[in-house]
Amino acid sequence: MAFKDDFLWGAAAASYQIEGAWNQDGKGPNIWDIAAKYNHIKHNETGEEAIDHYNRMKDDVALMKAIGLKAYRFSISWARVLPEGTGRVNEAGVRFYSDLVDELIKNGIEPLVTLYHWDYPYALHCRGGWLNDESSEWFLEYTKVVVDALSDRVKYWMTFNEPQCVLGVGYLDGAFAPFQKCSPPELFRMGANMFLSHGKAVKYLRENARQRVYISMAPYASTMMPANDSKEAVDKAYEDTFKCTGPRFAYTMAYFSDPVYLGHYPEDLVAEYGSMIPEFSAEQWALVSAPLDFYGVNIYYHGGYPDDGSGYESNWYKGCPHTDIGWPITPSTMYYSPVFLYKRYGLPVMITENGMSEHDWVFLDGKVHDVYRIDFTQRYLRELSRAADEVPVIGYMHWSVMDNYEWAEGYDKRFGLIYVDYRTQERIIKDSGEWYKRVIESNGKIL
Ligand code: NOJ
Repeated sequence: MAFKDDFLWGAAAASYQIEGAWNQDGKGPNIWDIAAKYNHIKHNETGEEAIDHYNRMKDDVALMKAIGLKAYRFSISWARVLPEGTGRVNEAGVRFYSDLVDELIKNGIEPLVTLYHWDYPYALHCRGGWLNDESSEWFLEYTKVVVDALSDRVKYWMTFNEPQCVLGVGYLDGAFAPFQKCSPPELFRMGANMFLSHGKAVKYLRENARQRVYISMAPYASTMMPANDSKEAVDKAYEDTFKCTGPRFAYTMAYFSDPVYLGHYPEDLVAEYGSMIPEFSAEQWALVSAPLDFYGVNIYYHGGYPDDGSGYESNWYKGCPHTDIGWPITPSTMYYSPVFLYKRYGLPVMITENGMSEHDWVFLDGKVHDVYRIDFTQRYLRELSRAADEVPVIGYMHWSVMDNYEWAEGYDKRFGLIYVDYRTQERIIKDSGEWYKRVIESNGKIL
């Protein structure tokens, strides 16, 4: 079986989706706190209370231990540690994350930190956000506070979660906070400031972390699937996976990964947009593309077309299986994505998210029988095991450890291994959580 003995079996969550305590102990508002108040979200639901993880942290870590997690990926709320985004540090916020790290380690769970998972400080948004060319310095200031506080105990770091969604959903389609619709020159400038932010954070981590650290970004995969496993079909799928053209460039894998992992913008993007893309100096390129340690990637379903004879395995056809959020179930992406990503970027791959939402409920026997989530995960993990036979794969983080706030969908979509009754905050380990425990104990052998 493909999984190495030190394979990191874990689960993930993100600050705004679980913490609640939106104004507790000196936290400042972020763009989701503000947007959610003003009718952008299904049922007008906000993350004000979320699953109250801020106040239930120790119990939640105990549940993680109960399902045998070896790793837990979480994100830091920037406005909890720096309420105005820069300047004054909120010591209570820093202490919360430091205590969380201690609690995880005490329970034998490796902490994995994501610096930015979408909850931008509102005060910085009002100063222009990513469009402001000072924004990478703000990000650096924030990074310093977190790294100084946690890097003695945290080895694994991710800078940006799904940067495609930050730019694409937040600023192109306006479907996530801050719900704006921007033009390509603005998007390129924001993207450039995100690259510089990433680069400055990596440099600070390399020079100041108090131990050897492992760093990555965490974009999502939109890998094209070959219609069959002939060399021609696989080569074509590989080429098309990394295309970066058209007004929706912000959603591609290459737009965020080529600069960071290869040190240049995608050639097809440059051919199309030319001088609209901000220039980096040689020094800036060195910063942006400083070597990383692994390729973190969120994998849900593959990129693809309707079944139109275009030469790809389709991700959508009449009656195809899909999850409650409407995403097609396409396990083979868990094989091809790591294989293609390793071929292009040459780094060990970590699956930083994978999972599914469904209409879970508590059965008459008091349990949550989510057999579909077990089947889904088993299918995807079998494909991951196939990939790990061919390329280095170092970990798998299930999304999510607990049901939580699914952004613009509010509380409608449940992704957790642990069920949460949002009225009482009662937690129940789902059947999938019990099953995942056995997968971890067997290091994937029961798959
Ligand atoms: C992507 C995001 O990183 C996470 O925040 C979200 O909840 C899941 N995938 C499911 O949509």
